[in-house]
Amino acid sequence: MAGHSGGVNRPNGATANKMCQFKLVLLGESAVGKSSLVLRFVKGQFQEYQESTIGAAFLTQTLCLDDTTVKFEIWDTAGQERYHSLAPMYYRGAQAAVVVFDITNIETFERAKNWVKELQRQASPNIVIALAGNKADIADKRAVEYQEAQTYADSKSLLFMETSAKTSMNVNEMFMAIARHLPTSEPQGGAGPGGRTRTGVDLQEQTPAGRRFGGCCGGQ
Ligand code: GTP
Ligand code: MG
Repeated sequence: MAGHSGGVNRPNGATANKMCQFKLVLLGESAVGKSSLVLRFVKGQFQEYQESTIGAAFLTQTLCLDDTTVKFEIWDTAGQERYHSLAPMYYRGAQAAVVVFDITNIETFERAKNWVKELQRQASPNIVIALAGNKADIADKRAVEYQEAQTYADSKSLLFMETSAKTSMNVNEMFMAIARHLPTSEPQGGAGPGGRTRTGVDLQEQTPAGRRFGGCCGGQ
């Protein structure tokens, strides 16, 4: 689902920011670090012994982009093969997807390519897809070259970043890059399971995490 509201006029004449909501799904082989990336993005934390996801997890995070507050409604899917058939439920109607692989494991890169193929065939035609080469902090065990992944990403029109949920390298940057590629200036259509469109949001209600991104969220 995606909601979009124009500026909210206040009695003192100030115009509040507009707000957009986007549904984002994470896909990728088990243990590549999907949940860890979300945990880093949403809570600023990392766990060495992150439990394997069962089904899917739902979290939200807000960030600020110029005069727009972007709220991500995040579906963190389970990578284990037995959950594969559930995936369409989560990517259907999503405006953004992060397909994750582990740079130390070539099979996870091949699996990521299959997810991209599936998304480009079956998800929304305008979906913004980011490819994340995670675990960049252990690049000494690298099995997928940066340039190889970048070339592949370019050939499929994907955003690409190497990330580390452990050190937080490029995690916020990746979500910010996705937000920049989403149509924040136009009203959005519906975005999928359980989705509602919300308008007229008062942006004085900010999450502390939203404020981490600085700029437009804090100072109203
Ligand atoms: P499923 O839920 O089974 O699909 O796995 P997942 O993709 O959500 O992986 P998860 O986040 O559970 O991470 C798997 C393991 O990799 C955990 O032990 C994490 O601590 C570790 N891990 C995740 N991200 C990183 C990273 O950037 N660097 C390092 N070194 N380890 C990471
Ligand atoms: Mg997980």
